Amino acid sequence: MRQAIMAGNWKMNKTPSETKSFMSEIQPHAEGVVAQIVLCVPASNLAAAKEALDVIGKKTKIALGAQNMHFEDNGAFTGEVSADSLIELGVEYVIVGHSERREYFAETDETVNRKVKKALEKGLKPIICVGENLHEKELGVTSEKVCAQTKAALYGLLHQEIKETVIAYEPIWAIGTGKTATTQDANNTIKEIRRTIREISGNVADDVRILYGGSMNPENVGALMATSDIDGGLIGGASLKVDSFSKMMNY
Ligand code: PGA
Repeated sequence: MRQAIMAGNWKMNKTPSETKSFMSEIQPHAEGVVAQIVLCVPASNLAAAKEALDVIGKKTKIALGAQNMHFEDNGAFTGEVSADSLIELGVEYVIVGHSERREYFAETDETVNRKVKKALEKGLKPIICVGENLHEKELGVTSEKVCAQTKAALYGLLHQEIKETVIAYEPIWAIGTGKTATTQDANNTIKEIRRTIREISGNVADDVRILYGGSMNPENVGALMATSDIDGGLIGGASLKVDSFSKMMNY
């Protein structure tokens, strides 16, 4: 049985003080939640988030996530954040290769792979994003695209390392647009990703959590989570409000 993950991706939203308020407001809703809750906050807010989570206590099971990290340990990389710093700030998960980073910050399959390796080496769980754009969807090459991205991201990893990774299938045309992949399409593409992982690492594929992301909201979460292969969500817009995110954690 794979434990579900409900991960919020706040992107470049909220300040440290807003982050603290959110954490204390979400706390009563997070108690007893079966899924692993992860909140990926901006790097500038990680310390505030950790402080607030320490006050809330361990029973709420909210894990802290970052949205990016560098693949080198340290060095002349102005503006970047290292895995060691994330670890020291209490981070457990890190999003790698989000389509916005691939599009606006020149993230490639190669840098994604290097980041995944570094994250695992340091004990962080990478949430690796893959997904097709609208043109690729219309061409009917969704499966080819996401399977190639998955293979590239996992290249050179040991089977037990692959087990620690989380994949997020996020159709780019569905991100922030209010358009969601149909439940069946999302589940089928995720099955294809799992088949690809099986090719690389055999039965480890049954343990890897594969999430859906792209305009997931309190209305569609139930149907998506009722499928055979969708193990959770990477949630952008709907994770910014306590009300909608707590409904989704308790899908
Ligand atoms: P969205 O974003 O839920 O706002 O579509 C998802 C994401 O980009 O991770």
